Amino acid sequence: MTTPDRPITDEEDVSSRIAELRRLIEYHNYRYYALDEPEISDADYDKIFRELVALENEHPELITPDSPTQRVGFAPIEKFLPFQHEMPLLSLENAMNIEEALDFDRRVRKLLATGANIEYVAELKMDGLAVELVYENGAFTGAGTRGDGFTGEDVSLNVRTIRSVPRRLFFKSEEGSPPAKLAVRGEVFMDKLDFEKLNEERSARGEPPFANPRNAAAGSLRQLDPAITAGRPLKVFFYGIGTFPTEEELPTHYDILNRLKSWGLPVNSELRLCQGIGEAVSYFEELVEKREYLPYEIDGVVIKVNDLADQKLLGEKSRSPRWAVALKFSPYQVQTHVQEIRVNVGRTGIITPVAYLNPVLVGGVTVKRATLHNIDEIERKDVRVGDAVLVHRAGDVIPEVAEVIKSKRSGNEQPFQMPQECPTCGALVVRLPDEAFHRCINRNCPAQIKGAIVHFASRDAMDINGLGDRIVSRFIDEKIIRTVSDLYRLRMEDLEHLSGFGKKSAQNLLSSIEASKRVTLSRFLYGLGISHVGTFVADLLANSFGSLERVRSARIEELQETRGIGEKVATAIATYFSNPENTMLVNELIELGVEIERAQPLRAVQAGFWSGKTVVFTGGLASMSRQEAGRQVSARGARVTESVSGKTDVVVAGVDPGSKLEKARKLGVRIMNEDEFIEAVKSEQ
Ligand code: IVH
Repeated sequence: MTTPDRPITDEEDVSSRIAELRRLIEYHNYRYYALDEPEISDADYDKIFRELVALENEHPELITPDSPTQRVGFAPIEKFLPFQHEMPLLSLENAMNIEEALDFDRRVRKLLATGANIEYVAELKMDGLAVELVYENGAFTGAGTRGDGFTGEDVSLNVRTIRSVPRRLFFKSEEGSPPAKLAVRGEVFMDKLDFEKLNEERSARGEPPFANPRNAAAGSLRQLDPAITAGRPLKVFFYGIGTFPTEEELPTHYDILNRLKSWGLPVNSELRLCQGIGEAVSYFEELVEKREYLPYEIDGVVIKVNDLADQKLLGEKSRSPRWAVALKFSPYQVQTHVQEIRVNVGRTGIITPVAYLNPVLVGGVTVKRATLHNIDEIERKDVRVGDAVLVHRAGDVIPEVAEVIKSKRSGNEQPFQMPQECPTCGALVVRLPDEAFHRCINRNCPAQIKGAIVHFASRDAMDINGLGDRIVSRFIDEKIIRTVSDLYRLRMEDLEHLSGFGKKSAQNLLSSIEASKRVTLSRFLYGLGISHVGTFVADLLANSFGSLERVRSARIEELQETRGIGEKVATAIATYFSNPENTMLVNELIELGVEIERAQPLRAVQAGFWSGKTVVFTGGLASMSRQEAGRQVSARGARVTESVSGKTDVVVAGVDPGSKLEKARKLGVRIMNEDEFIEAVKSEQ
């Protein structure tokens, strides 16, 4: 077909040109979506599409609902109507491993009473949602979701917005007439890249992202407003039929797929005709490798008996056919490749290496990054750029590289080197002798400042609505703020000229900042981002000290008297407040109007010296047995252990103490003699 370029002179010409353009567009849709063999460039396609749009705009009376420009021609609906499936839309039985697929094949051969190889079609199990489309005399008349298999939801208006869904089946005149009624079944899905783009757009608008492409596809199709669906990049592949034209019998499933394709219905060309289950299993194994490179998510391979007469003989169970099985990939450990290893600088300056992966679906979530923790972990696992790796993720845990598949190495993989300079600010990166981590030494590193501000504004801290990662990065990059305290210096004039930042959102942000000025002591302490001070420790501090003044002037020993606060945490807190920069920040915040509500000290929590401590007794006591001494401290919340370690808080040394005392001295553990011990117990009667 060609695109005649000629001037249009009169009304008749206009309507025939419109008809011609519509035919051309339908034809090129067919070449593109069904055959995957476009004849013209995207630019040429856009040109004819735009010509049609322009003509229809000039002559609105010539617009018909089946014009390719009218995919969305309907207003939102109130709720979905039921959609009845003439033949139930069954589900598939799963094989969780190859052994179970072999069991399936044994069952099939037994039922068909044959020892011969069965011919199977192995197809990709697309990870989207099932739909049925109905064509009457070649024209699209409706579509429904699966629902309970018998009745789904009528999503006709939404399905007609999907570009690859033909409005009319494609027939060459010599092929006779289209079937009176055809119900085709397929999977609506979203490509991985389109999904990522959609999520980026959503997060830019402050909307929650979709967990995976399947959720995105389902969420997009189940919109009451078809205009929303039309804006989402949905695709569809067809894999079977419900109601079938009876005049002409096709002998195999493979023939059906070819027929669907020739009618203009997209069928995934990634499929294989297999002689025997062995070939189907090899196909599955090839897909384990290939999966990460496919543009869409799949969760296994569907193996179907090809011969339709055999399918009929095998029949169906209540929910699934006996002639098909879904051989699924392991859900929690997935193979992919490391594209790159980059480092991330956190708010405390810790530099975390992160593996950037070919995106894969792990436990229902698309994973494209995995933490590598630190250099020791990278070296232990020997992760290199280009490696094939197994990635796992359990529940909400951050995805992790579980192991490297070393047998797949080509020799071109590149070992990772920790950068010597911070990728954000260029300052020196160091590793302290007793630390597992590398750090950027520049406390003014923009990455650290960004992290500190995001943490300060976070929900459990100052709870400043609308001040997330993106906005903070922008404010820092555009030098609108430099420090945490600058937040409270922000004015309307600073924000209103920012592109993409409307007056309304500026106003909202300023109000949230203003509202955050009244804050509880616990939230404020947490927001400062002192090492080891999470929400729990912040609560302990607030409850036991009551005011910021008391916390910031407390000595290490005093801090340690709080139940649940050990030496490490106490030291971190005292060190934080002994740094003049931090003192200045806290003072500035108060001067700028942050009002910290005093907390009521809780007696019970403030409790005793012994609570939460780990105590070791060595040597004999004069005034009581070791057992009795143990009972006394346990009753006050301590834990008594046998040996001295870094976790020991107190060693009580009696007569002839022995090696435990030596060890306690070496480790710098607090040592009490019997008198001090009795005193400490009595003061807490
Ligand atoms: S055949 C009667 N083929 O998997 C058998 N299903 O558990 C009907 N699916 O939601 C299914 N790709 O939408 C078949 N190539 C494929 C498939 C496929 C994905 C979905 C299907 C259904 C689920 C069945």
